[in-house]
Amino acid sequence: MTDKQLIDLAVEASKNAYVPYSHFAVGAALECADGTVFTGCNVENAALGSTICAERTAACKAISEGHRDFVRIAVYGDGEGYCYPCGACRQFLAEFAPEMEVLSAKAGRYVSNKLSELMPYTFNF
Ligand code: THU
Repeated sequence: MTDKQLIDLAVEASKNAYVPYSHFAVGAALECADGTVFTGCNVENAALGSTICAERTAACKAISEGHRDFVRIAVYGDGEGYCYPCGACRQFLAEFAPEMEVLSAKAGRYVSNKLSELMPYTFNF
């Protein structure tokens, strides 16, 4: 799958976002080593801290289906800037695949980083 195809899946997933509070829809498409892709969107809640980001929705879908071998994730938000994963999502993904590729996208453009570049020195014990 090309980067663009993975980003297109993230864009599609963002259409399911439940965002009555921020009105900022995010979509993620997470590719695993065997090529399986899990998508996710952000799901907000009136108790704002209970909001779940798109990336963690996708990651939990994958993990709960037995996939932990993440190789690439596309994250899309319809904002001015590239939609990089937040710190909590970086830490969450790094638990499973610190060297995975992260495609941070906005309309028509994206940047690629290794997760270890975006999130060095992850918490661990
Ligand atoms: N959000 C994500 O889905 N992923 C991130 O990495 C950062 C933020 C969501 C959470 C909230 O619904 C909205 O974006 C605004 O913060």
